[in-house]
Amino acid sequence: MTKEKIIKQLNIFYGLELFQVDVYTSQSKWVNDIYMRKVFERMAVIEQQHVDNLASKIREMGATPSKIVEMTTPYAGALTGKTLSLTHLKTALKTNIVFEREAMKMYKDFIMGVGSDEELFELLWGNLIDEDLHAVWFTNKLKELEAVTH
Ligand SMILES: [Fe+2]
Ligand SMILES: [Fe+2]
Repeated sequence: MTKEKIIKQLNIFYGLELFQVDVYTSQSKWVNDIYMRKVFERMAVIEQQHVDNLASKIREMGATPSKIVEMTTPYAGALTGKTLSLTHLKTALKTNIVFEREAMKMYKDFIMGVGSDEELFELLWGNLIDEDLHAVWFTNKLKELEAVTH
């Protein structure tokens, strides 16, 4: 992959990770359960770390971090001041799982083409594993909620 292509990819991930920060921050405000609130808050912190590590890599490569694709959270606005109902919560978890798995797939593809930049390689692996842990937690929580509501 050329340097330009790598920078473009990094910017795509930068936008994606910013979106994830928004989503989990929103969800942390709307979820009723304190444990889940703390989980979403913590996940937003981790996604922010991804934003920051990608941004500093982009700068290190001589470019400026910029969102290539503008993504908006499906939870913005409409739910302000309300709490997530169980149905909404389950839908949110399902959406989160889809996004986390998609991010994992994208990170895996990126890693394959990254070449000899060891530092970038490690950075992408770290982010990928975090997304895996998020997906696993959401999947497990969803199962738990499905079990009590059946
Ligand atoms: Fe992330
Ligand atoms: Fe994640």
